[in-house]
Amino acid sequence: MVVAGKICAPPPAWRNVSNRVNVGATAPGQCLVEAPINQYNIVERYHLAYKEYQNHINMLKSHAWKCSLMGQSSEMELEMTYMRIRMTQPDLVYELSPNYGFSTIFILWALHDNHRGRLYSFDTHERYHNAANCIGNIVGGGRFNFILGDVLQTFDQTVALTGLPNMLFLDSAHSREMAIWYTDHVFPMFSGRHTYVSVHEVHNPTFWNDQDLFANKERDLQIWPAWMATEEGLTISDWLLFQPYACGIHSMAMSRWPAIYEAMNDMRAQIFGADLRNPHAGLRPHIQENPTLFFELNCPELCPGVS
Ligand SMILES: C[S@@+](CC[C@H](N)C(=O)[O-])C[C@H]1O[C@@H](n2cnc3c(N)ncnc32)[C@H](O)[C@@H]1O
Repeated sequence: MVVAGKICAPPPAWRNVSNRVNVGATAPGQCLVEAPINQYNIVERYHLAYKEYQNHINMLKSHAWKCSLMGQSSEMELEMTYMRIRMTQPDLVYELSPNYGFSTIFILWALHDNHRGRLYSFDTHERYHNAANCIGNIVGGGRFNFILGDVLQTFDQTVALTGLPNMLFLDSAHSREMAIWYTDHVFPMFSGRHTYVSVHEVHNPTFWNDQDLFANKERDLQIWPAWMATEEGLTISDWLLFQPYACGIHSMAMSRWPAIYEAMNDMRAQIFGADLRNPHAGLRPHIQENPTLFFELNCPELCPGVS
């Protein structure tokens, strides 16, 4: 049974027909009956999830190539994002930011497969159109909302409109300043609320910050070795050290966690019969870094007896 967070004695509305408990956001006072995904159980837990969602992912991927293949995200971390949305059933996801909409495709498809949830995507330009329209035509529109402008200016007013999201997908500017904004300004808004977060480009050896990326400049590996997190990555990793209520921290980033990267790919290849490390497999085999860091904010206690 695959769920990211199950709760003790949930109210009936939180149970589905197969008696599985899906948690969009665990309510105060409730405890987890399954440990969150972490670096020790990551392969085992995504193995279960892949087995459950394999056919859905195949369907999504068979359409994704028509909608947008433009973007920096790696394929497997977006499959993990898809599965995480299926496992946690969020009502509201914020995506910072969509750019050409490659990540948007995986998020919208997962919400569609959940039969619930809305997506708000924030960007300073409107390159998302093709992907969002294309995917909307396939899985049905109505879940997608786009907020144009600098997210530092638009975030608060959007929260005032929608309430706080259950999931934050962070892949916007990859600078220390951006990480300081969301750790110092955004995360405190979620105080006490169980919330799922992902941050892209935490361990990406190909650049150090956005300036390098935009200048198409390779990272200077003499100064910042490949295993070292990016400027944004160091800021969020450092912030996490000081959080008593963060949990479920996991990543399969190739440059930092090579053994987990290989194990995840071996596991996935067994299930799908196709290996994403193969230069002829997958949607975009040249992008393999998988630099996303996944975690949860304000995690409830584990129920007694759960380890
Ligand atoms: C790396 S791209 C997103 C890639 C996308 N998630 C994907 O998987 O293909 C980063 C995006 O963040 C946007 N961005 C950067 N700073 C921003 C800001 N302050 N407000 C809104 N969007 C911003 C950029 O315009 C760009 O489209």
